Amino acid sequence: MKDYQSGIRHEDLLKYVREMEALCTPQQVHWCDGSSEEYRMICEDLVQKGTFIRLDPEKWPNCFASFSDPSDVARVEDKTYICSRRKEDAGPTNNWVDPKEMKAHLKEIFRGSMKGRTMYVIPFCMGPIGSPLSKIGVQITDSEYVVVNMHIMTRMGTAIIDLMGTDGEYIKCLHSVGAPLEPGQPDSKWPCNPQVKYIVHYPEDRAIASYGSGYGGNALLGKKCFALRIASVMAEEEGWLAEHMLILGVEDPKGEKTYVGAAFPSACGKTNFAMLIPPKEMDGWKVTTIGDDIAWIKPGKDGKLHAINPEYGYFGVAPGTNMKTNPNAMKALSRNAIFTNVGVTDDGDIWWEGMSKEVPANITNWQGLRHDPTSGKPVAHPNARFTAPASQCPSIDPQWEKPEGVPISAFIFGGRRSTTIPLVYEAFNWNYGVYMASTMGSETTAAAFGEIGKVRRDPFAMLPFCGYHMADYFNHWLQFGRNLTRAPRIFGVNWFRKDEQGNFLWPGFGDNMRVLKWIIERSRGKVTAIESPIGWMPKYEDIDWTGLNFPRDAYDRIMEVDREAWKTEIMAHEELFARMYDKLPKEYFFMRELLLSSLWRSPEHWYLEPETH
Ligand code: OXD
Ligand code: MN
Repeated sequence: MKDYQSGIRHEDLLKYVREMEALCTPQQVHWCDGSSEEYRMICEDLVQKGTFIRLDPEKWPNCFASFSDPSDVARVEDKTYICSRRKEDAGPTNNWVDPKEMKAHLKEIFRGSMKGRTMYVIPFCMGPIGSPLSKIGVQITDSEYVVVNMHIMTRMGTAIIDLMGTDGEYIKCLHSVGAPLEPGQPDSKWPCNPQVKYIVHYPEDRAIASYGSGYGGNALLGKKCFALRIASVMAEEEGWLAEHMLILGVEDPKGEKTYVGAAFPSACGKTNFAMLIPPKEMDGWKVTTIGDDIAWIKPGKDGKLHAINPEYGYFGVAPGTNMKTNPNAMKALSRNAIFTNVGVTDDGDIWWEGMSKEVPANITNWQGLRHDPTSGKPVAHPNARFTAPASQCPSIDPQWEKPEGVPISAFIFGGRRSTTIPLVYEAFNWNYGVYMASTMGSETTAAAFGEIGKVRRDPFAMLPFCGYHMADYFNHWLQFGRNLTRAPRIFGVNWFRKDEQGNFLWPGFGDNMRVLKWIIERSRGKVTAIESPIGWMPKYEDIDWTGLNFPRDAYDRIMEVDREAWKTEIMAHEELFARMYDKLPKEYFFMRELLLSSLWRSPEHWYLEPETH
């Protein structure tokens, strides 16, 4: 690892690093060069410290596993702040503290926070290097775990310093695990601060400060903090979109390619959808992956929307991932990967719930204890993760690093809903689609969010990730649409509808391709649809059923629009609207009334009719 610091001519960056060094008082400073040698050495160091367990090199080449502190296992939304100058700019759905007050407080918190540790400086680029859509950040961190994860998740190192030149813009990202070491004090395997955590964003300063956690989105600041919360503010000001969306390409048997962006709240199988493998009977159809979590989207000169994935790797949820649900992810994570909070066997193998039927023998659970099959406790934490290079995904799209991005023809919004929402429907127009996305919701699967099964409204799947007032964000989407000459169509999907007995009505996974195919054909203007009270819907005949026995009555059930349930659904939108009444787009009130009025007629249940439009 050579030190290239002496060659850096970016005065503002040097000043920032000097100031943070003076504040956090680390033992030393290391400027990351992003090389594989650096990655190798830091992983080795983590093995020495006991943070990393080197996995069996035959089964898992160049892979490591680590267990986090039990107090540090997920994003901490209640400790996440948007410190805009004005409270009303953060809006009612974000925590807010006056930035002056927060800065003064955090200055004391960060003072001496890196004592006894190395302060790493990570110059990184979100998006392909050289893309006009990409943006640069510099993360300062005292966590080796973060450095090696950033190696996988971002493009980083000397190339970025070169790109920055003498005065290039960058986002300041300060991070400390908040566990200073006194001389002679032994380090813990997962340093963090179990009591004090802060994930703070200063939108006007374009800066982030994160303290106390070493886990995922709390600590890998390029991801949710920069690429969504700060970027959403930049996007609103500059006229583009920073979205919690996967991007995938669909290739038809003739080789024609269409790209879509899709937003789902957490725990809806986003990574699986991004890497979908069509049923073998759907000969010649292929899905390619651009991104699994975040999309940056800008209108191009051609009038189309162009999207990039700002990330370089996947930080995916491990439990439930297997060779059936997501073979592409399994192959992507088969080498050069980092696993956090999965189970580890004595001979260097790993396992998580849903990876295979049998729990392997001699396995240590994510808490570092011998797994006891009688305890009823899981081996892996439900939020256990893999960090894997995107380039290793077999379905990666050949254009995934194209500087100008890929053209987007449709947006898909979905949630986990056991009732009411049909399998697929298409918005009547852009404004209606924006309303649909704003009111989307998902049933909670984790007790952490309150009652299990309760609908939690999550507009655009952005509720935890929007760096400004959510209703301003709705207005931005409406305004964005007004400026488009060729707006993508907008679709709603629901893979999770159940029957009265609680059985899923839809097989999901690869069969989602059948719905995707209709969406693609709709976007290409190749297929007609039926008008329902809530949007356009596919006729039974227009879905490709090859290889799946899905009779018409099953289809009727999954597409049913229950008028009473929909009236209740629409009235429930009020709860969300009331929270952001001050800035809510006027269009929303009319849209809701229009929806209600179209539902307010007999018959009570609306089923697809053979009439087309
Ligand atoms: C994620 C999330 O981790 O959306 O990607 O929660
Ligand atoms: Mn996400």
